[in-house]
Amino acid sequence: MYKIAVIPGDGTGPEVTAEAVKVLAAASERCGFTYEATSFDFGGERYLRTGEVLPESAVADLRGFDAILLGAIGHPEVKPGILEKGILLRLRFELDLYINLRPVRLYPGVDTPLKDKGPEHIDFVVVRENTEGLYAGAGGVLRKGTPDEVAVQESINTRKGVERCLRYAFDFTRARARRKTLTLCGKTNVLTYAFDLWERAFHEVGERDYPDIRRDYAHVDATCMWMVKNPEWFDVIVTDNMFGDIITDLGAMIQGGMGIAAGGNINPQTVSMFEPIGGSAPKYTGKGVINPMAAIAACQMMLAHLGEADAAARVDRAIAYVVAEKLASMNAGQMGYSTSQVGDLVAESTAG
Ligand code: IPM
Ligand code: MN
Repeated sequence: MYKIAVIPGDGTGPEVTAEAVKVLAAASERCGFTYEATSFDFGGERYLRTGEVLPESAVADLRGFDAILLGAIGHPEVKPGILEKGILLRLRFELDLYINLRPVRLYPGVDTPLKDKGPEHIDFVVVRENTEGLYAGAGGVLRKGTPDEVAVQESINTRKGVERCLRYAFDFTRARARRKTLTLCGKTNVLTYAFDLWERAFHEVGERDYPDIRRDYAHVDATCMWMVKNPEWFDVIVTDNMFGDIITDLGAMIQGGMGIAAGGNINPQTVSMFEPIGGSAPKYTGKGVINPMAAIAACQMMLAHLGEADAAARVDRAIAYVVAEKLASMNAGQMGYSTSQVGDLVAESTAG
């Protein structure tokens, strides 16, 4: 019996999460595993009501679950940064979810803005370091609000943090068993301290423990260029937190948009958290028009992570079927179905 924590969150988060849970229920019925879902009301509404971003007990409570399913964090009436830092980033850091795994895969029948590219060209995975870099919060400000203001924001890269991320990426590339190529995405020509550490660790670890994996390197700006021009060159990309954040929004666009892009915040030893990578989309809230496919894909990743291979494969086939045969578009309001109808379609299709 899996204990699943569900954090629907803000905006359209609750709508898409409900559909992901619907698909989880269908998969459990078909595949014979059981689960217990516990909902947590963390998010903007709770913050505005109570003044508390995350209750004291939240992190300890969440540690007791097998996995966490998150909808979206971000509220139009809350100053940017408070909820993102106080909930999403805090959970990533305190639960030590040191990998952000973001597949970039174009399903057949889904539109990509890339001319002449299809599902055979767009199928790679980004392994984003998730607890360090510019996100660590190191730095400070002097003389704030004066003409002499100084703001410093430092990128923290520890050998241990970098190496565990690289090892995860090498293992993942090996298990994926495609082109067995891991590309380090960095900026060794300018960030000569941080990415020197990354580059040395990459080659040391790769040479010693992963001789079967081909090592490639691309600067982050060139990575953006290749993702558009020749996405088929990539198998697995490993990168730091900030670059990973940026290139995965580009990745989401080439795989059909935020309606379909999902990711996992992973700690291989303890609890992991799965989420659609888009935001809370306030303008679509409560209308039943948002595409829940990204949340459903996050649920699919959660099933794979829990070791429910049959359920994960069924949900994946169901997503592929529904996006190819049913949905007119991945965009909110243009799917040809409501949010809950899309969830129904996927849930029904898990039979196939
Ligand atoms: C993401 C988001 C977050 C990030 C924000 C909301 C803090 O953009 O998950 O990619 O920057 O990591
Ligand atoms: Mn982002």
